[in-house]
Amino acid sequence: MSQLDLIRALPKAELHVHIEGTFEPELMFAIAKRNQVVIPYETIEDVKQAYNFHNLQSFLDIYYAGANVLIHEQDFYDLAWAYFEKCQQDNVVHTEMFFDPQTHTVRGIAFETVLNGLVHACEDAKAKLGISSELIMCFLRHLSEADAMETLEQALPFKDKIIAVGLDSSEVGHPPEKFERVFAKAREAGFLIVAHAGEEGPADYVWQALDLLKVNRIDHGVRSEEDPALMQRLAQERMPLTVCPLSNLKLCVVKDMREHNIQRLLEQGLCVTVNSDDPAYFGGYMNDNFIAVADALDLSEGELKKLAINSFEASFLEDAEKEKWINQIHAL
Ligand code: ADE
Ligand code: ZN
Repeated sequence: MSQLDLIRALPKAELHVHIEGTFEPELMFAIAKRNQVVIPYETIEDVKQAYNFHNLQSFLDIYYAGANVLIHEQDFYDLAWAYFEKCQQDNVVHTEMFFDPQTHTVRGIAFETVLNGLVHACEDAKAKLGISSELIMCFLRHLSEADAMETLEQALPFKDKIIAVGLDSSEVGHPPEKFERVFAKAREAGFLIVAHAGEEGPADYVWQALDLLKVNRIDHGVRSEEDPALMQRLAQERMPLTVCPLSNLKLCVVKDMREHNIQRLLEQGLCVTVNSDDPAYFGGYMNDNFIAVADALDLSEGELKKLAINSFEASFLEDAEKEKWINQIHAL
């Protein structure tokens, strides 16, 4: 089987995708029109021109502006449904999606409007496409602890619809320790825990995510490589890192895909996975991310299979489900 055929054939779980980051320009234009919201672009070409980022913040400014056209439950449904169709094309059979309620509640959109639209799309994806999914609610780390706490309170009545809480947005200057009390409360309430750490921020933020937030997974984590003791800890615990290759390239975390450390992380025994982060902004969904690293780093069939197996190992699926998919990968 060719490398490309194998990538396509592998069942995969996606563990790091921001649903607001799957907002394709075509859908953004359509929803802006029906909601009569003005966006700062006239054509798809204008949009593509604007998607030229030099760091995380330069992306976030544009990403938050795009999300402003989402108003009604149907908008959130359409957004998630379009992403599920991409999952189907890429043989992503399970996905654990981030959503950023504060991006919407600050504009006066009700928490339930966002959640209901996403939940209904998840239900339809299971029924019509056979794709399983979970929702992870992220706190925006550039906002205050009090804001995050209020968002957690809003989520408590919907605990059964949200599997985990996470931490995203501008990393540098907003360390995990800022949210230690929020995450303690979330853990008490029974949420699983993830956090973006070590994307642009230092290895110390990964230590904080582990020791203070008590995460079940690290999102990104590529800068962990700068600290050998941390690498040893991550390997020993099989603590998953949800790595996003095209994101790292587009946000200049790496200069060239041939310099990406995903293969070295894998070689050192870390449970690394491949993910798309914000695929509408970074030029590709799951399989594009696999292809980008497979080509640049000349990944072997064994390494590609290991990355797909890791995605199920690192997922929040039940053990029997994990085993089912991992067995299918071994059989390829
Ligand atoms: N929100 C959306 N994408 C993000 C990323 N790559 N890092 C931090 N916050 C984000
Ligand atoms: Zn992310």
